[in-house]
Amino acid sequence: METLKRTKIKDLLATKPGIEVLAKGWVRTKRGNKQVKFIALNDGSTINNIQIVANAELFDEELFKKITTGASLSVRGKLVESVGSGQAVEIQATDIQVLGECDPMRFPLQKKDTTLEYLRSVAHMRLRTNTFGAVLRIRNQMAFAIHTFFNQKGFVYLHTPLITESDAEGAGDMFQVTTMDLKNIPLDKKGNVDFSKDFFGKKTSLTVSGQLEGELGATAVGEIYTFGPTFRAENSNTPRHLAEFWMIEPEMAFYDINDNMELAEEFVKFLVQWALDHCMDDLKFLNDKYDDGLIERMKSVLGIAFQKVTYTEAVEILEKAIADGVKFEYPVHWGTDFQSEHERYLVEKHFGKPVILIDFPKDIKAFYMKQNEDGRTVRGMDVLFPKIGEIIGGSEREASLEKLETRIEELGMSRKNLEWYIDTRRYGSVPHSGFGLGFERLLLFVTGMSNIRDVIPFPRTPKNAEF
Ligand code: 4AD
Ligand code: MG
Repeated sequence: METLKRTKIKDLLATKPGIEVLAKGWVRTKRGNKQVKFIALNDGSTINNIQIVANAELFDEELFKKITTGASLSVRGKLVESVGSGQAVEIQATDIQVLGECDPMRFPLQKKDTTLEYLRSVAHMRLRTNTFGAVLRIRNQMAFAIHTFFNQKGFVYLHTPLITESDAEGAGDMFQVTTMDLKNIPLDKKGNVDFSKDFFGKKTSLTVSGQLEGELGATAVGEIYTFGPTFRAENSNTPRHLAEFWMIEPEMAFYDINDNMELAEEFVKFLVQWALDHCMDDLKFLNDKYDDGLIERMKSVLGIAFQKVTYTEAVEILEKAIADGVKFEYPVHWGTDFQSEHERYLVEKHFGKPVILIDFPKDIKAFYMKQNEDGRTVRGMDVLFPKIGEIIGGSEREASLEKLETRIEELGMSRKNLEWYIDTRRYGSVPHSGFGLGFERLLLFVTGMSNIRDVIPFPRTPKNAEF
């Protein structure tokens, strides 16, 4: 046989019938009778399978026994018009090679009804399912869309370090990084851990945010964005928290809070539109299987302006709701941080559209946020989305050296680790702003999945770092 190049199934399904083709992939299902077998083959290039039609006369009975769900095949044949497969074309097989057999008794995806919860326990294999194929392709498209968006705007992609000595968010949820022998930790004269003996000669952790280094970039080249993994050791077992998640953090010199909100809104709308434009097959699949409001909800955020509301106004709305009989698990009064139930009430029940919350009490936000004139609020912004709650957190930054230093002192933060950051305000300080989009929170919105563990290939959560 002369050599024939493999064509991906996505391309085969869009090819005119009548030619000789070579397909490779994994068996999804096999059915048929004594005369003819139908094999649904998938190679991950699309949610759609190609149907292989195998005339039993042409093949050995033993071969069909090896063609089980999960087995990998190389199939050569003629691409012909299809009447029954639900696709335009199918392959009339002339040669089938089993590349790798798959024991039906042991294959973890054998069961027909595999719950998402079960699939998490076999996360190394769940990527082979239609669901995770769809999620992975959408995830890939979203990453590409993010780079496209910022590239079109002339932002510089800045690589910020994963190992750091500073706690950017001041929440203390950091994973320590050390090469010290935990059974024999060096101590100084006072009995404290002697970090000078550690690998970096100081106490270091995995970063919770690239923002502080991002500000160094923005105050040098104007507009930057980061896109990388971040780590938080919060012990929150919720469907919206991961210990390792990806964040996109644009940071822009000369932007005030209004410019910042405008960019955030344009950015998420661009991403949702991109998903609708590039992932429709996968979206339809997820919409039908898990969330019949998915595509509608995605479209619903595009046409309208997001609702801007101050934290103080939002507290009044929530207090009124409580007075009217709405029940929340957590209390609300001025000064509390909103829970996702409050955020979702504002978005889904009260305004019926995405909300941008601004002007938060300074005590619930990080030290770097620009202080308002009133002395008690800061120019932060959270973008809240239906079904999810907070998807973006950001702010205008405090540009005044004096105010920043005072705030650092008030909060009792260690200045020693922050001198390099404070330099941005010492030398040519400018108004600037930025925000962080949680990549997996975005993916919750554009896949309709309800648990964040199902939109990242290998989730890390408390007591779970498998695979
Ligand atoms: O609101 P956060 O903590 O803001 C920052 O880290 C700022 N430094 C961003 C900036 O201004 N450059 O986090 C930003 C976003 C949240 O809105 C949320 O979408 C996501 O990151 N996020 C998480 N996603 C998954 N798991 C977690 N544990 C998350 N914590 C935050
Ligand atoms: Mg936040």
